Amino acid sequence: MTSDVLIVGSGAAGLTAALNLAERFRVTVLAKGALDEGSTAWAQGGIAAVLEPGDTFESHIDDTMIAGAGLNDRAIVELVVENAPASIERLQRLGVPFATEGPNGNGALHLTREGGHSHRRIVHVDDATGWAVQEALLKAARAHPNITLVPDQVAIDLATSRHEQRYSGAGRVWGVYAVDRGTGAVNLHTANATILATGGAGRTYLFSTAPRGATGDGIAMAWRAGARVANMEFMQFHPTCLYNLEVKNFLITEAVRGEGGRLINPRTGHRFMPDLDLRAELAPRDVVARAIDAEIKRDGLDYVHLDISHMPAEFVRGHFPNIHDKLLGLGIDMTREPIPVVPAQHYTCGGIMVDRHGLTDLPGLYAAGECTQSGLHGANRLASNSLLECFVFGEAAADHIAAHWDSLSPPPPIRPWDESRVADSDEEVVIKQNWTEIRRFMWNYVGIVRTTKRLERARTRIRMMTDEIADYYGSFRVTPDLIELRNLLQTAELIVHCALHRHESRGLHYTLDYPATSPEAEDTILIP
Ligand code: FAD
Ligand code: SIN
Repeated sequence: MTSDVLIVGSGAAGLTAALNLAERFRVTVLAKGALDEGSTAWAQGGIAAVLEPGDTFESHIDDTMIAGAGLNDRAIVELVVENAPASIERLQRLGVPFATEGPNGNGALHLTREGGHSHRRIVHVDDATGWAVQEALLKAARAHPNITLVPDQVAIDLATSRHEQRYSGAGRVWGVYAVDRGTGAVNLHTANATILATGGAGRTYLFSTAPRGATGDGIAMAWRAGARVANMEFMQFHPTCLYNLEVKNFLITEAVRGEGGRLINPRTGHRFMPDLDLRAELAPRDVVARAIDAEIKRDGLDYVHLDISHMPAEFVRGHFPNIHDKLLGLGIDMTREPIPVVPAQHYTCGGIMVDRHGLTDLPGLYAAGECTQSGLHGANRLASNSLLECFVFGEAAADHIAAHWDSLSPPPPIRPWDESRVADSDEEVVIKQNWTEIRRFMWNYVGIVRTTKRLERARTRIRMMTDEIADYYGSFRVTPDLIELRNLLQTAELIVHCALHRHESRGLHYTLDYPATSPEAEDTILIP
């Protein structure tokens, strides 16, 4: 299938780009499963934008740079922060029903508060913002005659000049090979320009708030094709994931702390955050997650408590209707009792290196959203800045493609996928075993608090598994699980490589062997 622009990913970044391109171009959007299965639909808290009287762009920029521990690219932070109010307006025009101060959608937008923000700044749809955003974007994309949405296509690798039937040496990206979940066939999707909007790599870790498909596919594909990847050591752990033996990845939004929730040690009853940081529960995520981790490790706890039961029950139900109902179904009434919580992997700050137009190192390849390292987040993402990044960079990539269309030549004939030397797998157990093993050692050795020794242990395991998985990949027909396993391992390797490279503690990367922060802030850039 050939189109003008191919977009891999149907979340906030991919669909924003598609809608911005569709007036002029034929756009195809692929998703690896259902169209609403990415992280976008799972976002709870909201979208950060300067809208409160007295708030300023300067303040949002400062908060972003402070959370990012000085590693952010200030020009990119300015670009994103200054475009936030316009992004919110566009979403309103698409029908996103943001919460307002007055009843029935009247009055100014209601702004909630999250950690690291010095103002009320978070626009939201109750506690299920992402779902409303995903629905609105999908509705608009479905209605557009120039957008073709193709679910159940798991991209395997980029199709590049190496795959041209007559090699041109142009070094271009021409699209992707993708396996169809229904038929198992490998299809070729080509285009003049390709945008990767494949989301993060949270599932590299045993405990993560991210959906099942967050396996770092875009990052791994871009890396294998020759693009630089940066800052993968900065994996964000959200402080408050529900602790429940059945439901393993349900997020309790930071807005619960923003609206008064307190963190309590369940053994001592002590509220511990005010001892550690002036901002108490509203310190940036890295600080809060480390504090919880320390309480849990010191006292041998399974979890700590997040308590908002001192607020009026009506207020709690009104602000957090979905979380309230979900917890009630699990036997926890958050209006009367505390919620057991633990930190869990939540967001991938590093990724494919892009410039302010979403351009990667590879001609014809753009990237946007969580799969990128744009310079916005630095060493730690400020809460609710990531959906925003998707909107700003989805649009920026679309604008750049439109402005440079004449230089984006159509794809030449590309070789079809070659399955002549592979057989059907007779050892699926290899996939299951390795999936679990990667996620477990990443959690134990490359988690919230690191040491060089533990990182080296993880590196040794990755080396051992690399041969086994390469051998498996070379011998058997590709399946979605095998593609994801290969990408999980690739991503784990990039994370460990970056982490071993950084000889300091900064933002989300905290190592006992280098506890100090270096005076110079430098990105960890990996060159294939
Ligand atoms: P996603 O929305 O993750 O979409 C990825 C897309 O790529 C999917 O369509 C997927 O099918 C497709 N894809 C991936 N691999 C392949 C492949 N191999 N082949 C084909 N398609 C592929 N951020 C905020 O700003 N505010 C919040 O309140 C907030 N809350 C969050 C709550 C949770 C529980 C989580 C997990 C994250 C939250 N985040 C929040 C982060 C934010 O949701 C994500 O960073 C953002 O939605 C990422 O959007 P994206 O478009 O980059 O990718
Ligand atoms: C949350 O609601 O706590 C998540 C916000 C975010 O990840 O930005």
